[in-house]
Amino acid sequence: MTKPAHLASLSQWQDDRFGMSLHFGLYSLAARGEWVRSAEQLSVEDYQSYYDAFAPEPGWAAAWARLARQGGARYAVLTAKHHDGFCLFDSALTRYSSMHGPARRDLVREWIEAVRAEGLKAGLYYSLVDWHHPDYPASRDRQHPLRHHPEAPARDAAGDWTRYVAYLHGQVEELCSHYGRIDSLVFDFSYWDFAGEKWGATELLRKIRALQPHCIVNDRLGNEPRKKIPRPSFAGDYEQTEQNIPQQGLRDDAGLPMPWEGWFTLTNSWSFSTTDQLWKSPTTIIRALVNCVSKGGNLLLNVCPDARGRVPDQAERTLNEVGGWLRLNGDSIYGAAAAAWPKPEWGRFTQKDRTLFAHVLEPVIGNITLPELRGRIRRGHVLATQAEVVVCDFWNPGVQTFDGPEDIFFNFARPTAWTYPLPDARDTVVAFELGEESEAQALCQRWDDARAQDIHSRLPIS
Ligand code: GLC
Repeated sequence: MTKPAHLASLSQWQDDRFGMSLHFGLYSLAARGEWVRSAEQLSVEDYQSYYDAFAPEPGWAAAWARLARQGGARYAVLTAKHHDGFCLFDSALTRYSSMHGPARRDLVREWIEAVRAEGLKAGLYYSLVDWHHPDYPASRDRQHPLRHHPEAPARDAAGDWTRYVAYLHGQVEELCSHYGRIDSLVFDFSYWDFAGEKWGATELLRKIRALQPHCIVNDRLGNEPRKKIPRPSFAGDYEQTEQNIPQQGLRDDAGLPMPWEGWFTLTNSWSFSTTDQLWKSPTTIIRALVNCVSKGGNLLLNVCPDARGRVPDQAERTLNEVGGWLRLNGDSIYGAAAAAWPKPEWGRFTQKDRTLFAHVLEPVIGNITLPELRGRIRRGHVLATQAEVVVCDFWNPGVQTFDGPEDIFFNFARPTAWTYPLPDARDTVVAFELGEESEAQALCQRWDDARAQDIHSRLPIS
């Protein structure tokens, strides 16, 4: 049986490892979070001034797509509709969209074309929650902006949930039909009994698979359905964590590793904020990416356009630095996965086929231990410069106490007992070729030679 198209895409997505997302909409003008309507209990009328002003500058999508590529992202996701219900696309089902506001443009189309032009995969976020739709209940919902509004109960009494579900399905069908290939759909979010079949989730996923057989779908049509055994029919393809990297890679209830993605923000906000200037550094992002990949996960980094759609300078600087690191070290990330060896003390491992990537994150005193790898690795080199590293033993093995007899060591230069500053303090990646077990003998010989040279290099020259 041939693999369904979306499962082939899922493997490619797991190779892509790094994506960028944008939260962009009317709330970008409020500049205090995409939950502003809920947090401040704003009515649609209170929120209207943002609708009347939202008109991103032409070229916004191209600028972001370029930045995503330069930053090393392989896929990029845009909020087609967030919880406020405002649509960035042309929908026959509502006038509450960028087509009817002052922009008078289909921003999703601009986005998808720009992302494709940069050779990246295009994804769309779509909110299951909708605070604008009259059929979406308000009065009993802890989060709805109108939850305490005196007219909310009467409004809800007139509401018809099946009409909302038809609207939701209709809009997803529009997104799946009008823009060519969509690489991923990111739904947000299920809560209480607003989950699974309440959204008509099985049928919705069936429609998506029919219209976009290659598209992968996240797991928020239910409450962590991808984990459950047996897996519900609307489980989707991968699980997401939010503002958190788990201690270990995610597993389903049968203990099998799941495709997963850590999703977090470059500041602490999902959408443009005037006050949040707590930017994560390029080093933090690089290390978080390595952390995710070392546990078999992806990283989706969210960045915030201002209301004009411009790229904040700090976002540009950070992504460019991350992209620069990836240009030299991407081999250890793209197509790489969790290694067969546990996390070493000084950093992390990733692995691709027979290459083991040592991500050295902490300076080490003396030579660097490769636990349990004696007889298993061949030569190694610093990935960024291709400079060979010295695979070595202690200068007096047998006298020196090893942590474990199966350990072997390396260093960046000779003498190998010296301590050298890391070539890249953010993360120095060393690529080691893994040898066959049968080669162990020969390798030991080579290390013996290296040890002899090492000892020799310490002798005073007479
Ligand atoms: C959080 C935010 C929400 C955002 C989502 C992305 O739940 O509150 O606005 O869209 O994260 O996963």
